Amino acid sequence: MLIFRQLFDPESSTYTYLLADSETRDAVIIDPVYEQVRREVALLEELNLKLGFSLETHVHADHVTGGWLLKERTGSRFALSARSGADGADRYLEHGERIEFGNRYLQARATPGHTGGCMTYVLDDERMAFTGDCLLIRGCGRTDFQEGDPRTMYQSIHMQIFSLPDDCLLYPGHDYKGLTVTSVGEEKRYNPRMGGDLNENDFAGYMDNLGLAHPKKLDIAVPANLACGRPEGDGAGIDDPGWAPLTYTFAGIWEVQPHWLEDHMQDCQIVDVREQDEFEGPLGRIPGAKFIPLGQLSERAGELSADTPIVAVCRAGGRSAQATLMLRRAGFEEVANLAGGMLRWRAQRGTVEGASE
Ligand code: FE2
Repeated sequence: MLIFRQLFDPESSTYTYLLADSETRDAVIIDPVYEQVRREVALLEELNLKLGFSLETHVHADHVTGGWLLKERTGSRFALSARSGADGADRYLEHGERIEFGNRYLQARATPGHTGGCMTYVLDDERMAFTGDCLLIRGCGRTDFQEGDPRTMYQSIHMQIFSLPDDCLLYPGHDYKGLTVTSVGEEKRYNPRMGGDLNENDFAGYMDNLGLAHPKKLDIAVPANLACGRPEGDGAGIDDPGWAPLTYTFAGIWEVQPHWLEDHMQDCQIVDVREQDEFEGPLGRIPGAKFIPLGQLSERAGELSADTPIVAVCRAGGRSAQATLMLRRAGFEEVANLAGGMLRWRAQRGTVEGASE
């Protein structure tokens, strides 16, 4: 079976796509965004997937690719069009090439027009295609810079995308209104730029008169993407907290494991956010834990020191996850959730006091 996820970066309105073979767990990701790499890595880990390739549909002008950072963090490889002009990719794709993941593949189709090196990636059974900034939902990418050319784009859309089955789902590189998916048949009929009876001249006339402002990140994004998203100098990219070996979840929570906390109880403020009867109940509590029920945490956050890391704990790790978010909003930076709460702590034979079972 195919595993498929559509991910969104709200800053640039970019869609990132994760596809994987559920049997082999091999995955590819299309158009990852630099600032979202931590989230995407968390999802790969939670779904138990191995990332083979990150693919770019083109050299973006509005965000920096996460391809280099994903490579650093997962060992994946980076691929994009041989016409992209980018340096340092692991694989340069030609029209018609296949990118395999497990028993599935994507076929690269050259769809220039937005940039010279734009690719559309078509799933092996032609039920899905990823069009980047060539065809958008009821729109298309701009053609006024980066070797853009409306007549080339028109030909790309007609020859490479509209030639797919009408029920093939199309997933764009962006959407600015929250639309998520379309189909070949729909766009052939209803795309206001090239659908219905509109011809190449109509399309070129439309595109030559868009009058769009340049993207805000153009001057940063294009050079960074021509280097496959590698930051200048020795920058390792996004800084992760260094006070403990924390893991980040797809839900957006920083977690610490019981075995680390057992060895570092003295270095942390442990905050138990359960209710009184639970704190004094049979599961017991971690020695030295400060008791602040979740409902009182906002008003009593001042009782905690900003100079010592905080680990929040509850029965199973749910309320304490919420506590970490509240503490971060209150200005505490070094905060983590005890993964699995007292249940996992007990299961892993963590030290307790007051327990009766
Ligand atoms: Fe673009």
